Amino acid sequence: MSLGSPLPVAVLGATGSVGQRFVSLLDKHPWFKVVALAASDRSEGKPYAQACRWILSEPMPVWAREMTLLPCTPQAMPEVRIVFSALPSEQAKTLEPEFAAAGFAVCSNASSYRAESDVPLLLPEVNAGHIHLVRHQRLARGWSGCIVTNPNCTSTGLTVTLKALDGAFGVRRAFVVSLQALSGAGYPGVPSLDILDNIIPNINGEEEKVEWEPRKMLGHLNEDSITLSDIQISAHTNRVAVLDGHTVCASVELATPALVEEAVRVLRAYQAPEIARALPSTPNPVIIVREEADRPQPRLDRLTGGGMTTVVGRVRPDPLLTLKFVVLSHNTIRGAAGGSIYNAELLVSEGLL
Ligand SMILES: NC(=O)c1ccc[n+]([C@@H]2O[C@H](COP(=O)([O-])OP(=O)(O)OC[C@H]3O[C@@H](n4cnc5c(N)ncnc54)[C@H](OP(=O)(O)O)[C@@H]3O)[C@@H](O)[C@H]2O)c1
Repeated sequence: MSLGSPLPVAVLGATGSVGQRFVSLLDKHPWFKVVALAASDRSEGKPYAQACRWILSEPMPVWAREMTLLPCTPQAMPEVRIVFSALPSEQAKTLEPEFAAAGFAVCSNASSYRAESDVPLLLPEVNAGHIHLVRHQRLARGWSGCIVTNPNCTSTGLTVTLKALDGAFGVRRAFVVSLQALSGAGYPGVPSLDILDNIIPNINGEEEKVEWEPRKMLGHLNEDSITLSDIQISAHTNRVAVLDGHTVCASVELATPALVEEAVRVLRAYQAPEIARALPSTPNPVIIVREEADRPQPRLDRLTGGGMTTVVGRVRPDPLLTLKFVVLSHNTIRGAAGGSIYNAELLVSEGLL
């Protein structure tokens, strides 16, 4: 699919950890052109290069450097069609509906609206069809715009993997332990004296999200809501001294027992639903299964497929449940900005803008 001219988009929370990923990933995007960057009143009115402490290894795009940061209001950016929200959840709660009511499509990373029954919680390679909930959302709320969300960055790779296994064998239960990167805590995030030489065995609210969000994404789409999957998940979430890339160690109970080789074959063959298979951000492949005994590793594997591919390794029998394995997903790319951009591409390709 090619658009006549690129759609004008904006990034809210553009100076933060996820906002910077948006700016970087949207540089030269074939469908979208960034025409506005916005952040808090601490940054408003400043050139992006001055307000933003750039933390990515690739250089800040030249076009972004001199852009003046705007306030996060619909009135400040009337020409924009899609806003990518990298706002803290408290601010997202009030600001995102203002944009949706004013006719903007909001593709959000915040947790504020993920649990609402009429808001799609999307990983297009898992549940692309759920995007059509926005039709009901518009009717129910009287919005000409919409809010579409992506899940927390720990659920991302886990849910992709569960989807593949569930389709082939049925997944009854999963027991998971996360090792989450520092960039997941935003900038400046966890103080260095707390995290160096250390593991922090608690991330506020994260376990509940990892236990619930996959059930919505793996659930069944009805006309105006999602029936949750009955998969049971128990999660432990930990912050570790890794820069980018969330690792999840998972044990799963399958309804139909499967050999390791069968599970690996299913994971490798997994494809996105037809409507999400050929978009600019579609991960290719969706899942890679590594053979080495000591992979995936965040430093070596997080940028597989441009950071959009889910990397699985160490698939082996589990003495308590059926199988165990390790999943790695890039938290600010597949788990945040890249995921939102993929959602926006799906909105456009399904004619929902
Ligand atoms: N980091 C991840 O891996 C990840 C993954 C998935 C989802 N998320 C979610 O994505 C969102 C952003 O996370 P982050 O890690 O990028 O956070 P962050 O680094 O703390 O950045 C927050 C951004 O929001 C802006 N902001 C703060 N208060 C504001 C206000 N009152 N009005 C307007 N803008 C305001 C900040 O602007 P100033 O610079 O002007 O303060 C900054 O641009 C959060 O909801 C988070 O839960 C993050």
